[in-house]
Amino acid sequence: MASQLHVYVPPHPLIKHWLGVARNAATPPPLFKSAIKELGRWLTYEAVRDWLPTEELTVQTPVAPCAATMVNPDVPLVVVPILRAGLGLLEGAQTLLPLASIYHFGLVRNEETLEATCYLNKLPKQFAPQTRVLITEPMLATGGSIMMTMAELTERGVDPALTRIISVVTAPPALQKLGKVYPSLTIYTATIDEELNSQGYIVPGLGDAGDRLFGTEG
Ligand code: URA
Repeated sequence: MASQLHVYVPPHPLIKHWLGVARNAATPPPLFKSAIKELGRWLTYEAVRDWLPTEELTVQTPVAPCAATMVNPDVPLVVVPILRAGLGLLEGAQTLLPLASIYHFGLVRNEETLEATCYLNKLPKQFAPQTRVLITEPMLATGGSIMMTMAELTERGVDPALTRIISVVTAPPALQKLGKVYPSLTIYTATIDEELNSQGYIVPGLGDAGDRLFGTEG
């Protein structure tokens, strides 16, 4: 059977709460940053459930030997934040995946054409087989940035079936593009909004995630 893009919106009250805080235009940048960090933490918690490789070991408690299921440190774990805004989710993801390697990928969007251009690519030439990749990108809107990131990753040996994306707000154009080319991919998002406006912003969305995180103006 052909695989199909998996998109999960975890029904978690803390994810809903922090999404509400992030959506509110009256939320000041420091609180917005905390909200995105919390969303990074909770979405990562949900996303790694069936993704983190484990191994069965025996540990010695103070009383007796005991079977233990531990995270397997030999399987490479990677987080790829898409700059700028992916840095906000990275902070939360890193608290759960302290041993993951972080490869920054910087994209800037041309506000007229809505096309993404890469200004920083710290990805290695090749990823080891079985590498688990978590991409952090708060806004999946037109799909331009995430498609460019996926193309760079798969060119370097990343398996989309071992890749998870965490996102705060996702819109149908990005999901359609990802589903066509990477049907084995899995996405965890706080919400799916219905549409984009003529500037490529998600409606209702939360505005410009990068500007709100870093207190800048577009
Ligand atoms: N990027 C953002 O920061 N916000 C949007 O609504 C779409 C893309």
